Amino acid sequence: MDNKNFAINNTLVSSRNPALQINQQVTVPGDKSISHRSMILGSIAEGVTTVSGFLESADCLATLKAMQSMGVKIEKKGDNYQLHGVGKHGLKAPANGIIDCGNSGTGMRLLAGILAAQSFDSVITGDASLNSRPMTRISKPLTLMGAQVKTTQAGTAPLTFSSVKKLKAINYQSPVASAQVKSCVLLAGLYAQGLVTLSEPKLSRDHTENMLRGFACHLQSEDLTVSMQGGQKLMATDVTVPADISSAAFFMVLACLLPNSEMTFKNLCVNPSRTGVISLLKLMGANIELTHSTTKAGEQIADVVVRSSQLHGIEVPQHYIASAIDEFPVLFIAAALAKGETTLTNAMELRKKECDRIAVMAEGLQTLGVECHELHDGIVIRGGQLKGGTVDSKDDHRIAMSFLIAGQFATEAIKVKDCENIMTSFPNFLSICDDLGLNIQSPNTDKET
Ligand code: S3P
Repeated sequence: MDNKNFAINNTLVSSRNPALQINQQVTVPGDKSISHRSMILGSIAEGVTTVSGFLESADCLATLKAMQSMGVKIEKKGDNYQLHGVGKHGLKAPANGIIDCGNSGTGMRLLAGILAAQSFDSVITGDASLNSRPMTRISKPLTLMGAQVKTTQAGTAPLTFSSVKKLKAINYQSPVASAQVKSCVLLAGLYAQGLVTLSEPKLSRDHTENMLRGFACHLQSEDLTVSMQGGQKLMATDVTVPADISSAAFFMVLACLLPNSEMTFKNLCVNPSRTGVISLLKLMGANIELTHSTTKAGEQIADVVVRSSQLHGIEVPQHYIASAIDEFPVLFIAAALAKGETTLTNAMELRKKECDRIAVMAEGLQTLGVECHELHDGIVIRGGQLKGGTVDSKDDHRIAMSFLIAGQFATEAIKVKDCENIMTSFPNFLSICDDLGLNIQSPNTDKET
């Protein structure tokens, strides 16, 4: 797949290509979660870490720049990044005291674990969306560890950290299944004395645990609890970032819904804490197969083959929610085009993402004539036909991409507002769409250029 530079304009129009059938392989870019973690761990390790497959999206580049601003030398060498780790205690105060994470909750919450333990003061901030998301979920455990961290009155960023000498270990029961909370506590735990333990209500993605082990750190995981002796140091290693299942998900739904189609997603990260989208599509009747499965650095990788399928509505089992949390916007599109009703409950976390994904998706689907209604912690969607219309993604990258895919299945064009944030996670999304034959354009032009 080439890397043509398609300008992502604020508003894009997606309309049906009537002849479209797709039979090809697709390689989506590197996993966002693993990319963030590679920059953070490589920076505080001892020695030189080489990262291949790093996702060069706005979110991950913000994390890279954050580490550079704290004195870490990070160089691009061909397609790889080389990080000259400064060790746990080698970071310097950020150039102007402030770190800007842009739109990235992962960047902010993981970096907070590191900043909380430094012998310098710092401030971490983000864009309007990020600065309205809940941060007490991390400030609370960090404070219990002895960190000096302040949120705004509303419990949001900017977060202010004052220098500390040492942190103490905690045994923390997280009220939410959140990899960002878990990772924040584990990263702060690298600077703590004693045994750090965290339990969560459902298993969230475990990339931090896997990567810490790759950097020679010892952790014990059992069911929903992870523990680690505080104070361990990290040793540099090479990191290969597999392809992002969250990016592939848009095209998985496309492949299911198109006639006579088969798409193979190469080298995808199929860590079981991330494959909820495959399990849920299969429950809906999707024909999906995993081939060439292997494990690299603790991460399971496979090629995933998705074929045209007859989808039907489901009641989403609770145990798949955490592992599909980022894929619900596009799963809602699948539900809107499936036969029968889909019900999702117990998914309150969806209201706390880049926007309130339940409200914004419901509004967009209703605009397109879909029968659906919000529940306080979920949604009910009745499958049927999509008509055209204008939907507002509210600056949410995954909602924008979901409605752009939906345009292929609507009777009239779908105009999607606020598409620029697609750059935060999937910079070559439009280039891949163009390659596959999807009809996505800027308003009043023939093709994106
Ligand atoms: C992420 C964890 C998830 C996910 C986010 C990336 C990570 O958030 O929604 O896109 O890389 O740790 P939570 O941990 O808050 O559920």
